[in-house]
Amino acid sequence: MPDNNHGNHSDRINVKNISPAVIKRLPRYYRYLGDLLRNGVVRISSNELSNRMNVTASQFRQDLNNFGGFGQQGYGYNVEFLYHEMGRILGLEEKNNIIIIGAGNLGQALANNQEFDSNGFSIIGLFDVNPRLIGMTVRGVEVYDIDMLESFIRDHEVKIAALTLPKTKAPQVAERLVELGIRAIWNFAPVDLNLPEDIMIENVHLTDSIMTLSYRIHNQ
Ligand code: NAI
Repeated sequence: MPDNNHGNHSDRINVKNISPAVIKRLPRYYRYLGDLLRNGVVRISSNELSNRMNVTASQFRQDLNNFGGFGQQGYGYNVEFLYHEMGRILGLEEKNNIIIIGAGNLGQALANNQEFDSNGFSIIGLFDVNPRLIGMTVRGVEVYDIDMLESFIRDHEVKIAALTLPKTKAPQVAERLVELGIRAIWNFAPVDLNLPEDIMIENVHLTDSIMTLSYRIHNQ
């Protein structure tokens, strides 16, 4: 049975109104599909896939239906096709250049993470104020003086700026980044950023996560 579902479904769907809960589940689906693909799995039933991912088959189907659905009743999913479609929906088929502001412990740890590369994210520069860090490289990526920010952003296509600097400095640096045309901020500093509504902010706070675990330990 041929796959006749290889159209760009999401072109026809209004992907702007998808709920954030659905979007949060997509990276996990993408990761599982990538593992299946690397293990040579060509086709998988909706039940088997959802069992592996520990979501219900109906949840998975409903999530995909937001983007037009990608399976054929009775024939399951073509893993490679679904993997690439999911990557396209997540914007991973395009190059996503990242800069990191604050080249301390966390900034360097991010720059050292090879997994970003394999998902189409490229860390192209780190920035800091500390003269001892400026000029060094982390996995081949240079740490620049923060004063170089303007010219760097002008000369490179930067999609995302990660903030790994002290929380007292983060709001002011974030505003400067926005003025320089950055639209997406990956904020690790433990502070809420007050930026124009059209700026996309993704906050990552490990402490929030450990507190959630702590709550569960103490409220069993
Ligand atoms: P760190 O002190 O090792 O690194 C901070 C770096 O920022 C330093 O190299 C410093 O010179 C630089 N810096 C200071 N002012 C700057 C400015 N105006 N422009 C550019 N660089 C500047 O600290 P660490 O451990 O790397 O933490 C960095 C930030 O990330 C902190 O705000 C910390 O609270 C936060 N953090 C967040 C986590 C999370 O889960 N979201 C986990 C760990 C840390």
